[in-house]
Amino acid sequence: MQNSLEYISQHKDRFISELIDLLKIPSVSADPAFAQDVLDTADAVKKALENAGCDIVEIHETDGFPIVYGEKILDSKLPTVLVYGHYDVQPADPLELWDSPPYEPVIKTTELHPEGAIFARGACDDKGQMYMHVKALEFMTKTDQLPCNVKFMIEGEEEIGSNNLAIYVAKNKEKLANDIILISDTGMIANDVPSITTGLRGLSYVEVEVTGPNRDLHSGLYGGAVANPINILTKMIASLHDENNHITIPGFYDKVEELSREERDEMAKAPFILEDYQNALEIESVYGEKGYTTNERNSIRPTLDVNGIWGGYIGGGAKTVIASQAFAKISMRLVPHQDWEEITELFKKHFESIAPTGVKVKVTPHHGGQGYVTPIDTVGYKAASKAYETTFEKKPIPQRSGGSIPIVSLFERELQSKTILMGFGLDSDAIHSPNEHFGLWNYLKGIETIPYFYKYFTAMSS
Ligand code: BES
Ligand code: MN
Ligand code: MN
Repeated sequence: MQNSLEYISQHKDRFISELIDLLKIPSVSADPAFAQDVLDTADAVKKALENAGCDIVEIHETDGFPIVYGEKILDSKLPTVLVYGHYDVQPADPLELWDSPPYEPVIKTTELHPEGAIFARGACDDKGQMYMHVKALEFMTKTDQLPCNVKFMIEGEEEIGSNNLAIYVAKNKEKLANDIILISDTGMIANDVPSITTGLRGLSYVEVEVTGPNRDLHSGLYGGAVANPINILTKMIASLHDENNHITIPGFYDKVEELSREERDEMAKAPFILEDYQNALEIESVYGEKGYTTNERNSIRPTLDVNGIWGGYIGGGAKTVIASQAFAKISMRLVPHQDWEEITELFKKHFESIAPTGVKVKVTPHHGGQGYVTPIDTVGYKAASKAYETTFEKKPIPQRSGGSIPIVSLFERELQSKTILMGFGLDSDAIHSPNEHFGLWNYLKGIETIPYFYKYFTAMSS
């Protein structure tokens, strides 16, 4: 019987051109200007699932963008894999920093991708990784090797918080019933160091507003005599970290789980070269919480970062002015057990409490979600591990990621099933950044590896 590698070698050009077509549609969920493109992308995903062999494919309307649902049920006695992914992408701005236009995909080689990578917004996050599952399904159905039932749920609002998906999941528990959830929307350590993501961070995202005088003022006539909202905001933000880069919000660390020395030693075995890391980012040194390594800082430790800050005059030349208001967007990455709503509340209380008299402070929560950790002694993890071992000829390393996919903890709560995160992207693939790309080798390796997960999961479940 033909294996996935053989099937890929026959169909690889088409697999690549189909992905390129999908990447040409600018499905930016955050920007209303692209609403029609997002809807068109949902249609394209529906057609792709039909072509790949789903028996039923439906577009489910929500209050936002639709969810594409597909299934192929062989036998109710067999296990069911639920594949989740997202067809929406992040905005491409700043456009001038792209070497080629974000929605005109091109293939170029890079140091880490000598076999070429597709450059386009969404190439890695998540169209390319989602489409690996569609093509893996095609292989399994066309060669009669699908060993179990499969359901697909591909949403269009992941990059804006998945609020409507949460409602859909809660309402459709029976329809979505499954034995394991499979997601490719994370990364791996390197092409020769396969890894399976075993943790995601939670998130609390807030916007803050500091208001001083009722209008913008002449900075000579009033400067020094009234509170300047920008001065105050930056001072307040600076105070959120102490000299060791610990976060100063009272109660912030109360529920943070400290990993044992053994677990940290185990984590430290993952290959990491500080110099390469610094060189890739053109920085002279790393920066972060005292007492933790770089890999710990970006995975098992919570953080607080300003994502944007504005106010006052930012046009050309100089304008002498004291702005009436200043703003910032702040994200906090959380670790398992920290509750995002509780953290949002702690932030709000603290931020309001540190405001000096003379200004008013408003904190508006945007969205958030819980973190996730999954044990490695489950059937799902073992099947995934064996699948990687088959195609990479190496045992994958479990790795906790710093990113967030808030819906994963909701899946566990609502559907009572575990998620396996089989990511094939690299951290250097520039997701959310200009020049996002996805290695062709990674794309095809994903398509090759996924069918083995189905095979081993079905065998190990019985
Ligand atoms: N796919 C990413 C999350 C990710 C990337 C996790 C790499 C692990 C490794 C996802 O699309 C994403 O961008 N999530 C957002 C959160 C969301 C609520 C906007 C994030 O992590 O910033
Ligand atoms: Mn994603
Ligand atoms: Mn993303």
